[in-house]
Amino acid sequence: MSIDLQSLEKIPQHVALIMDGNGRWAQERGLSRIEGHQEGAQSVRAVLRAAAQVGVEYITVYAFSTENWKRPPKEVDGLMKLLVSSLNAYEQELHDNNIRLQIMGQFKRLPLPVRMRLQKTMDATAHYTDHTFIIALSYGSRTEIADAAKAIAEKVKAGEMKTKDIDEQSIADHLYLPGVPDPELMIRTSGELRLSNFLLWQLSYSEFYITDTYWPDFREEQFFQALEAFNDRDRRYGGVKKK
Ligand code: IPE
Ligand code: IPE
Ligand code: MG
Repeated sequence: MSIDLQSLEKIPQHVALIMDGNGRWAQERGLSRIEGHQEGAQSVRAVLRAAAQVGVEYITVYAFSTENWKRPPKEVDGLMKLLVSSLNAYEQELHDNNIRLQIMGQFKRLPLPVRMRLQKTMDATAHYTDHTFIIALSYGSRTEIADAAKAIAEKVKAGEMKTKDIDEQSIADHLYLPGVPDPELMIRTSGELRLSNFLLWQLSYSEFYITDTYWPDFREEQFFQALEAFNDRDRRYGGVKKK
């Protein structure tokens, strides 16, 4: 079934994705987990291309959580290497499609060569304004919110801010990427019904789309299906349904 893209009335400005199921995808084929991650990297590329095609401005992908450091060192190392090789292979597409790269998470916790490679592409794409591609790396939402609380407390202590001025906006302004609009749509692959510490604050009013498809099988067509489902949602924000 192919999707009539013209029929999509609403295109979300920001779509966030929990890319899950690489390991199970590989296991079903008798492949190694890292081969599953490699195939998953192709899906990132496909989703970026599809998002650019329909005009989604921001794509955030959950690539590595603070909890993922618990995985065997061989897998962690493989994921870091894959990140670098993917950047080498696909950087040109960021330039071709006017896509800026940003990272959210504990940047300093990443191995130095990875940081340097990421920084190079971030600098080289910083001037693009059409699309933003955000990779959540060593990212955990509770840490992000705790860090925001710390930064605000320091400002209050220094007399730069008043306690009474702490509100939703000022907390949002102290998260990792202030100024990025909240995702309207959150997609999780592989059927798990949980957030796994992803964007707890930013997803407060987002629509959730959970598919059983494993991440390596999630390509353009599946992304458009998610957009189609989003178009059928009735977003009320606590109000009353419009007639
Ligand atoms: C998602 O796939 C990728 C990362 C979390 C890095 P998984 O590696 O979690 O795959 P499953 O959940 O074991 O199938
Ligand atoms: C969530 O997937 C993190 C990423 C996709 C990077 P996990 O596979 O780590 O999540 P859990 O363990 O199923 O909650
Ligand atoms: Mg998983």
